[in-house]
Parts: sequence; C-alpha cells; structure tokens
Amino acid sequence: MKYAKVRKAVFPVAGLGTRFLPATKASPKEMLPVVDKPLIQYAVEEAVGAGAEVLVFITSRTKRSISDHFDRAYELETELELRGKKTELELVQGIVPAHVTCVYIRQAEAQGLGHAVACAEPVVGNEPFYVILADDLIDGDQHSALLQMRNVYERYGHSVIGVERVAQEETGRYGIITPEEISPRLYQVKHIVEKPKPAAAPSTLGVVGRYLLTPRVFELLRKTGKGAGGEIQLTDAIQALLGYEEVQAYEFAGTRYDCGSKFGYLKATVEYGLKHTELGDEFRDYLMRIGTELRAAGRTE
Ligand code: UTP
Repeated sequence: MKYAKVRKAVFPVAGLGTRFLPATKASPKEMLPVVDKPLIQYAVEEAVGAGAEVLVFITSRTKRSISDHFDRAYELETELELRGKKTELELVQGIVPAHVTCVYIRQAEAQGLGHAVACAEPVVGNEPFYVILADDLIDGDQHSALLQMRNVYERYGHSVIGVERVAQEETGRYGIITPEEISPRLYQVKHIVEKPKPAAAPSTLGVVGRYLLTPRVFELLRKTGKGAGGEIQLTDAIQALLGYEEVQAYEFAGTRYDCGSKFGYLKATVEYGLKHTELGDEFRDYLMRIGTELRAAGRTE
C-alpha cells in the first residue's frame, strides 16, 4: 500500500446532547440503543471493520457507561457461564475484538467538535485517522461508509470527508462544501463552511459524521478559534487544511439516520427492527397491522 494505514479512530462523545433531553440528562446519547445495540457499538463495529485497532473516545463526566460498555464485565460473564447461556456470553465477550485497544480521554469542557478532536492528538500522533460521530448511524450499501471512504484514501492519499445531499432549507445544520466533481460521488473540496444559511450555502452537499483525516489537521486545530455557535469547529480546521493539502469528499452509498434527533432515531429503530434476524418478521406484521388501522382511521376522519 502506498499510503500510511488508517489504524486509529476517534469517537467524540463529549457533547451535551441537548436535542434528546431529558433522555441525555444523566446518560450519553451514544448509549441509546437501536433495537439491541447502543449507537456507539454500531460506530465501533464500523471503525473496526475499516481497519481501526486503536479506538480513542473523547468523553466527559456523564459518559462512564461508554467505558463500562467496552470493558470486561466479569460478574456478568461468570453469571452467564454458570447459567449455561453460551450465546449471550459470546455476545458480551465479543463487543471489542481482542486485537483492539480502547483509550479514553476527558474533554474537560464541551468547547466544540474541533476541540474534542484536538484532544486525541497525543494518542493519534502523526498518522491518518478516522473521526466518527456515533449519532449519525449509517447503513451502508454493501460496504460501510468508512470502508467506502478508505477506498478513496487508498487511491489518492488525501483526507476524505463523508457527505450527503441535504435539503436546501437545512444547510444551517451542517458543514457545507463547495464541490468540484472528480467522478460520480467523488468531489474535490474547494471550500467548506459551517452551518451556512440556505441563501448563502455554496451547495447542498453536507458533511455528516464520518471523516478520514491526515494528521496535519491537529496543527491547524491548535490555531482554530471559536466559530459558528461559539464553538471550536472541525470544519474551520478543514478549511485551513485546504491551504496545505487537497481534501476530498465522498458521497457514500447508504442511508444515514440522524439519531441525535428524536425523529431520526425513531426512523432508525423502525428500519433496523425490520431488518433484525429474530424480530424482523414479527415486527413487519405488527407495522402492517398498525398501517391498516391508521389508514382506516384516516378514512373515517
Ligand atoms: P452535536 O453538534 O451533535 O452536539 O455534536 P451534541 O451536544 O452532541 O448534541 P445536541 O446538538 O446538543 O443535541 C457533534 C458531535 O461532537 C461531539 C458530540 O458528542 C457529537 O458526537 N462533541 C461536541 C464533543 O465531543 N465535544 C464537544 O464539545 C461538542
């Protein structure tokens, strides 16, 4: 391989999760389960599937349950063993594969996503790395979003950010790029701006929670001041990176669920419920029954 391997993944999980209060008052939004797995576990599985061996969690005071989730649970394991619950035991023991190491770094104050990523520098060092926002749950077509982005990196050796088309009226919720198309789905990023108003947005290609970044971004994050919303924005450091290196954007194939919002979370729960190996059929029947009832009620209104 021509370029340095991506072995490390950063999970910023120190946000306040205000859109999901009160559920996120005492427990992190990344621990919200979609069917039977917490959001952070889907994110970890995606990263490990894309070659990550060191997982760096940027946490805060209320996030202890995340480190507990990825730690050994001796009492539970002994109990499951005693009761002969082999499947459940394997499920619990297989959450993190043996070759993977978890590292936890505290972000003392929620100063923004850019600041959270900067906290990972002592562990990531001079290597390319992934950044994954677990509340963006992505169901990739054939391959995960990260794997699709890694394929682009392996070809060109530049940073790659995951983008998707967003509604014009919603550009103010995303980082938006000025794209120059290289090939279908792949763009050269000419410029990137955080949360532009719809009238000022350079396109409708919005950055969602997947990044593959070269380590120079750390140097630029150190110089990045407060941006949109008074927070230190990763987007601003990527804009600065463009002064030194090429950055590409990849419109991954798949469906993203914004599980940081209640509606996005509900949609993910329904879709993943329908696909679930044990529950899928029963859940489909249930939804069809509800659909029939709702249509009947609609007709009589
Ligand atoms: P969001 O913009 O979704 O903010 O952060 P939030 O606080 O998590 O949620 P809301 O909008 O208030 O409901 C994007 C990502 O960056 C992380 C969050 O955990 C989330 O994964 N983050 C944000 C940090 O780790 N630290 C910060 O200071 C800010």
